[in-house]
Amino acid sequence: MMRAARCESADCTPIWLMRQAGRYMAEYRAIRRSTPFLQLCKNSDLCAEIMLTAVKRLKVDAAIIFSDLLLILEPMGIQLQFSASGGPLLDNPIRTPADTDRLLELENIEALDFVMEAVRKTRAGLPESLPLVGFAGAPFTLAAYTIEGGSSRDYRLTKSFMYNDAGAWNSLMSRLARAISLYLHAQIAAGVQVVQLFDSWAGCLGVDDYRRYVLPHTQAVIASIPSEVPVIHFTTGNPALLSLVKKSAGNRKNLVMGIDWRMRLDDAWQTIGYDTAIQGNLDPAVLLSTPAEICRQAREILEQAAGRAGHIFNLGHGVLPQTPVENVIALVDAVHELSLKA
Ligand code: CP3
Repeated sequence: MMRAARCESADCTPIWLMRQAGRYMAEYRAIRRSTPFLQLCKNSDLCAEIMLTAVKRLKVDAAIIFSDLLLILEPMGIQLQFSASGGPLLDNPIRTPADTDRLLELENIEALDFVMEAVRKTRAGLPESLPLVGFAGAPFTLAAYTIEGGSSRDYRLTKSFMYNDAGAWNSLMSRLARAISLYLHAQIAAGVQVVQLFDSWAGCLGVDDYRRYVLPHTQAVIASIPSEVPVIHFTTGNPALLSLVKKSAGNRKNLVMGIDWRMRLDDAWQTIGYDTAIQGNLDPAVLLSTPAEICRQAREILEQAAGRAGHIFNLGHGVLPQTPVENVIALVDAVHELSLKA
């Protein structure tokens, strides 16, 4: 996985899955029966146990810390809850530019010490050869949650904030970018080998708005990560953004572009250039089918990668809660077998 992240050749294609530990797994559901999700995220022993169990069971090539994208907002003054159905709800969203200053500067990273504890404990339980991936939301996705107060279909509040007051928008985004940098640095110091930025909602923007309102802030975050640490930049929903998204890393080596299934992997790779690693891109819904279909679609993706150095196999987004665990195991085995170099 580390070789692939640096765009170097590997014995076989490494694979891990976004949301590889979660509700689709019986072991996870058993722990969740007695512990609410937020409480779970703050219990570093359980976070480590959940991820280590998943990694062992699936035989994937990397672990990601078990945590959530939105926890960083709590020490910035946002009250976070998860509803009974699982979705996040913010009690005091930043609805208008006038509210911008209610999002506090993240001064004290110790408030997120439970995450660093989870990093240390997960790292300690992993075989040395397996990297641990740290992560954070990218500025746009965190801003969208902060403004909408939860998930959204059209990002109406976020976009009207952005279009109505570019000054307040830039100040909100810069504050988030500084917090994200601090947070990722702390995760690296605690022991992660790779970091992934999730820009899960940036796909709702057009190309020119991404360039104007998002790019400089994501650029600031990526530029702040030490150059020896690979950065996986994951976006979803809008293939038209790909070459601009790549620009947010400047000419950084150690960049991996995370893509979803909406574009072919070979087209995406041609767009970003073969000197940049790529992560993806099976549609998570394929895991609701049969091992034969999963194997067929995995082979198609590997054929598009054509044995080039720098492919990390993953889904195009997280594992769906309805996924049979046997199908995930079948995918991991198929990718390893099909890509093994003779
Ligand atoms: O296995 C892993 O990948 C590690 C853990 C992880 C979680 N959330 C655990 C989780 C990671 C990397 C995340 C990131 C995250 N969280 C994102 C970015 C990735 C993406 O999917 O776009 C986002 C948008 C969130 C915010 C969030 N957290 C939502 C929208 C939800 C509810 C919907 C859902 O998919 O479950 C959560 C809850 C959440 N995060 C759960 C888990 C295991 C389910 C909680 C439960 O009910 O037990």
